[in-house]
Amino acid sequence: MAVWDKNSLWGLLFLLAGAVGQTVIYPFTSTCAVRGSTVTLPCTFTPLKSFKVNQTEVPLKIVRVLWCQNHRYCYTNTPSVYDSNSANINPRYQYLGDMKTNCTLQIRDVQQGDNATFRFRMEADHREGHFTNKTGVTVRVDDGSKMRIISSSDDETLSRGETVTLLCASGCTFHQLEVTWFKDNHALSDTGPSLHLSPLTAEDSGSYTCALKANMETVSEPYSLQVEAGNLDELTVIRLVLFSAHTLLIVTVASIIIKRTCCLQHRSRSAAES
Ligand SMILES: *[C@@H]1O[C@H](CO)[C@@H](O)[C@H](O)[C@H]1NC(C)=O
Ligand SMILES: *[C@@H]1O[C@H](CO)[C@@H](O)[C@H](O)[C@H]1NC(C)=O
Ligand SMILES: *[C@@H]1O[C@H](CO)[C@@H](O)[C@H](O)[C@H]1NC(C)=O
Repeated sequence: MAVWDKNSLWGLLFLLAGAVGQTVIYPFTSTCAVRGSTVTLPCTFTPLKSFKVNQTEVPLKIVRVLWCQNHRYCYTNTPSVYDSNSANINPRYQYLGDMKTNCTLQIRDVQQGDNATFRFRMEADHREGHFTNKTGVTVRVDDGSKMRIISSSDDETLSRGETVTLLCASGCTFHQLEVTWFKDNHALSDTGPSLHLSPLTAEDSGSYTCALKANMETVSEPYSLQVEAGNLDELTVIRLVLFSAHTLLIVTVASIIIKRTCCLQHRSRSAAES
């Protein structure tokens, strides 16, 4: 039943789309990207299936897809950032879509020049099937903003054996975030947006910062973490018990020896006197 409902819904959507003609939908018409990061511009399209010439339906087929910057119609001759007909494309612009319904574009290593409006254009084997949605997606490249460290714990002072996760975040949304973490200004090997510290030891104390790997200017304010010898972990307890037992043994043995030496001396002395 659920499957039938879903199918009929899709069918209805298809009919509606067909009735309206070709469409290009940008789910987000604006986005923000930190320089050096990767941003994805989601996009779906519905091409015209056919057109009429003298009462006959002529089928249409999409033969070319383009993405361009700041041009309202993205005509064939305007410079494009992606063109399915061209082999000479900047590899920073990756077309994740296809020639049928998906027109998603991904921009890697975002540059200041990407602060622009991007539009998708489809071209069919007849010009009736050509279409650009001039709304486009406006990308705002954020150069000045710094990364921020968000801790999973409200306290900056934590106890040994506890767990904490530090997240490297920014006011801009982006994908496939590659960051560099620093502890006391030394780079750590972790490259993911979250740094998981567990179980905490005294050596984890220090000043943490993070930055986008491709843009060190985004380096965050330092986050200071203090690990206190609060909760004793199992190993520490065992060590403590062993240490106490050891000390007790030494003291006992020592006192026995001292007692014997003293009394032996005492006895030998009294033997000499008599
Ligand atoms: C153009 O894109 C906007 C934003 O996604 C959408 O609301 C609109 O329906 C689209 N128009 C056409 C004709 O595809
Ligand atoms: C379009 O393709 C991209 C990359 O393969 C995928 O992530 C996305 O979900 C697709 N979008 C739709 C609406 O199918
Ligand atoms: C980026 O584009 C916006 C318009 O979308 C504009 O207001 C802003 O000045 C641009 N910033 C830079 C640094 O070019």
